[in-house]
Amino acid sequence: MKTIAIDGPAAAGKGTLSRRIAEEFRFHHLDTGLTYRATAKALLDRGLPLDDEAVAADVARSLDLGGLDRAVLSAHAIGEAASKIAVMPSVRRALVEAQRSFAAREPGTVLDGRDIGTVVCPDALVKLYVTASPEVRARRRLDEILAAGGSADFETILDDIIRRDERDMGRADSPLKPADDAHLLDTSEMSIEAAFSAAKSFIDTALKQ
Ligand code: C5P
Repeated sequence: MKTIAIDGPAAAGKGTLSRRIAEEFRFHHLDTGLTYRATAKALLDRGLPLDDEAVAADVARSLDLGGLDRAVLSAHAIGEAASKIAVMPSVRRALVEAQRSFAAREPGTVLDGRDIGTVVCPDALVKLYVTASPEVRARRRLDEILAAGGSADFETILDDIIRRDERDMGRADSPLKPADDAHLLDTSEMSIEAAFSAAKSFIDTALKQ
């Protein structure tokens, strides 16, 4: 099974990097954050509570990975709701099962998220942990929002990013952390091009072995 596992905090650049890698190696790509977001959105749309684990797990089990729409799911409120249901072990079990069956697709896969190298695909061919300082991530998020014609304030985004990191790194089940055998890529002062070439050479080497 050829899986590239890419983990890291929000807005570190792992989405762009994952898509570039998937394109380069013609692998299937799954942004696992979208699975948590889609579950949260389905609850919000149906007026269901975000704090009832049994209800959230039922919704997670019925999720269709084919219908994940990034544009719809990227809303800030959905990300916040996603990180709340992501602390629930039975929600995680349901989504991890779907993610593992995706990971087995041929000819290979790229999965990005928070626990891919540690929990979902511990035997991945290559593991990358992509990070950047909270300030750099907040600046990137702000630039994306401004470029899309929206408005936002740097301090608010920075506070959100710090809170989301605390929730993702502090939870008991599958906290965000680098796998012991992950390659660390700090993109604070590295362009996406440089991160991509570093990642590509790790993958080329692993594919030759
Ligand atoms: O990456 P993204 O911002 O779309 O993820 C939304 C939320 O889903 C994260 O804050 C995190 O709490 C959760 N998540 C997770 N495990 C993953 C992917 C995302 O817990 N593999």
